[in-house]
Amino acid sequence: MPNTIRPLIAGNWKMNGLRASLREIRAMAEKVSGKDRPDCDVLVCPPATLLAEAVALSADSPLATGGQNCHVARTGAHTGDVSAEMLADAGARFVIVGHSERRSDHGETDGVVQAKARAALDAGLVPIICVGETGAQRLDALAITVVEHQLDGSVPQLQENEQIVIAYEPVWAIGTGEVATPADILRMHASIRDWLVSRLALKGQETRILYGGSVKPENAAEILALANVNGGLVGGASLKARDFLAIADAA
Ligand code: PGA
Repeated sequence: MPNTIRPLIAGNWKMNGLRASLREIRAMAEKVSGKDRPDCDVLVCPPATLLAEAVALSADSPLATGGQNCHVARTGAHTGDVSAEMLADAGARFVIVGHSERRSDHGETDGVVQAKARAALDAGLVPIICVGETGAQRLDALAITVVEHQLDGSVPQLQENEQIVIAYEPVWAIGTGEVATPADILRMHASIRDWLVSRLALKGQETRILYGGSVKPENAAEILALANVNGGLVGGASLKARDFLAIADAA
């Protein structure tokens, strides 16, 4: 299928960024508002402490902001957690759920990820649902099976007007400098597209599938040109506006 979907370049700052880093967000907001703006949607997901200020800095620009995680509940006795409603209230439009670091650091299962995605949708956010195999699963030729299984368990039922984004992030490629080969990415993204179309019909054809894992300015153009790659989820290279915007330009 040709890439007719408008790409989304999403930056995941993880547990990085202090107030001084807001200048990077200001630079991103300026660039996506300017006349040499990239031909794609651009999203930055800073740590929760910087979200409200990132929203304020991007208020007059098409730069979107998002959270990196949310709780399954709307409110309640969950010390230290942030709900989807709170993210939406702060001005976020997206939230990443099921990132492999959440799955491994916090034992988040597919069921938890699905409940988080549902909570995000109920709060009016677009969940970016992450899936991806580990290095060992890949060596055992289980990548496609593992990802299908994660999709089965992590994607909630959708109402007519609800949208999701899928991010394929092979765990072994995250923060390692290693990238899946174009052939591997093509195969996986085609498989995810088939899954989406079989479950969501027309909506499945229009759902964005992002690739993530060591996306950099140097490899972005090649990855983003692949069929069924509708953008990228970028960690390390999203912390500096210059690198992140170079990736957005490559889209
Ligand atoms: P990376 O992280 O770009 O630093 O590999 C990607 C991610 O974890 O979303």
